[in-house]
Amino acid sequence: MRVLQVCAELYPLLKTGGLADVTGALPPALALLGCDTRVLVPGFPALRDGIVEQQLVTDLSGRFGPETVRLYCGLLPGSAVMVYVIDAPQFYDRPGNPYYDSEGRDYPDNDRRFALLGRVAAWLAEGGDSWWQPQVVHAHDWHAGLAMAYLKAREHQTGRRLAGTVYTVHNLAYQGIFSDWSFGALGLPDYFFNLYGLEYHGQVSFMKAGLYYADKLTTVSPTYAREIQRPEQGCGMDGLLASRAHDLHGIMNGVDPAVWNPVSDRLLPANYDAADLSGKAACKRELQAALGLAQRADAPLFCVVSRLAEQKGLNLVLAGLPALVARGGQLALLGSGDPGMEAAFLDAARANPAAVAVKIGYDEALSHRLIAGADAILVPSRFEPCGLTQLYGLAYGTLPLVHRVGGLADSVVDCSLENLAEDRATGCTFDGFTLEAYEAALRRAFALFARPDDLAQVQRCAMRQQFSWDVAARQYLALYEQVAVPA
Ligand code: ADP
Ligand code: GLC
Repeated sequence: MRVLQVCAELYPLLKTGGLADVTGALPPALALLGCDTRVLVPGFPALRDGIVEQQLVTDLSGRFGPETVRLYCGLLPGSAVMVYVIDAPQFYDRPGNPYYDSEGRDYPDNDRRFALLGRVAAWLAEGGDSWWQPQVVHAHDWHAGLAMAYLKAREHQTGRRLAGTVYTVHNLAYQGIFSDWSFGALGLPDYFFNLYGLEYHGQVSFMKAGLYYADKLTTVSPTYAREIQRPEQGCGMDGLLASRAHDLHGIMNGVDPAVWNPVSDRLLPANYDAADLSGKAACKRELQAALGLAQRADAPLFCVVSRLAEQKGLNLVLAGLPALVARGGQLALLGSGDPGMEAAFLDAARANPAAVAVKIGYDEALSHRLIAGADAILVPSRFEPCGLTQLYGLAYGTLPLVHRVGGLADSVVDCSLENLAEDRATGCTFDGFTLEAYEAALRRAFALFARPDDLAQVQRCAMRQQFSWDVAARQYLALYEQVAVPA
């Protein structure tokens, strides 16, 4: 089975969020099942420069517009994953974030930048590379949504099926919406700009293109798959998603043990496993020292590793900070994003440096040391399609405290008395996005930390949880088999 993954980010070369973790981990997991998977990405500098042993596949200049476009194929460093890179300097050779400029403004030509990704995907599906033709095209998030439309358009034009299609929603809140006049430059048949197509309230929606034209839809947890069929979380797409319920599957993301494993993680000052947590205590000591926090083994240390965006619900952490500190807790936060939120957390750290440490920025190594050294990880997201940091927390015996929505609901079990009695508890959860509910969960965490035997039981249960890419890859493969064109 030959499958092409189409996406904008790829760990370890380019990552702004969990999407990269997924697109980096899924292809090797599929390969272990015998699935021949390649990845197609835009040639952002980190990808254009980072893919090794690149060979020119073909020169596509002038084919989809006036731009210079060359397609290369190489290897993801340190792996056997083959990656096609679209070298189109006018579109992709810009430093920094792949989606917006240094002022945080979306690039004005994002429609054409990501349309090109879709066009090249469809071109590969049609046999553009005579050495390798996918039987399935699997597109991720709005950036790749137009691949589904281009493929469908070519199928209408040629009268034959080119490839099966799967479209995965990692986050419905980011939809890739552009004004109606951008449609003209996309080179799609006029009738695609339709309610029964990619038109959304008079605009062009790349997300809707994926949701409407793909054979199968997936999202990254079973609970989120249900939530997005209702108005509260449906971001205007709930009607379409509900109408496609029989094609929509929730497949939980996994944890890549090559990257996130306390036994072998080289970014930690000490390693550990569930049988012996002394290395975890050493990680906590090192972290407190490095961050200037009071060197207290008994102070529950809560961490946050997150984009500072509305989605992540960190206003609850800010509002609940006095209660957390008053109970003798500490907070260590690593994140970047919303400037107001960055400033508020920095103020809180300045006001109480022995109890609150804040690092603004993106730091892969520190994220590992935080998740290993902390006692708990706070993920109070308003909504969360899957969420990966709570899964990393579980693997590292760092108990997640989460709002019970989306993938958080599917991965964390509250330490209620009945769950403790049944040895199922792995963290703390709260229902309803209110400060009262969050602070009640916080109090439960403190109560648990005051009971060493119960705490040890919950940590062991957390570390036993298996969120494996093998399981997820088998579920994707089953879908691919349903839609693939014959070899
Ligand atoms: P989302 O994709 O919505 O941002 P996820 O929890 O799925 O949320 O994935 C976030 C990923 O990004 C995780 O791998 C997390 O460790 C990482 N991450 C988030 N913020 C930072 C940061 N400031 N520094 C390093 N890694 C970060
Ligand atoms: C998105 C979601 C996050 C998910 C990630 C990977 O960024 O916000 O919940 O874990 O994609 O699927």
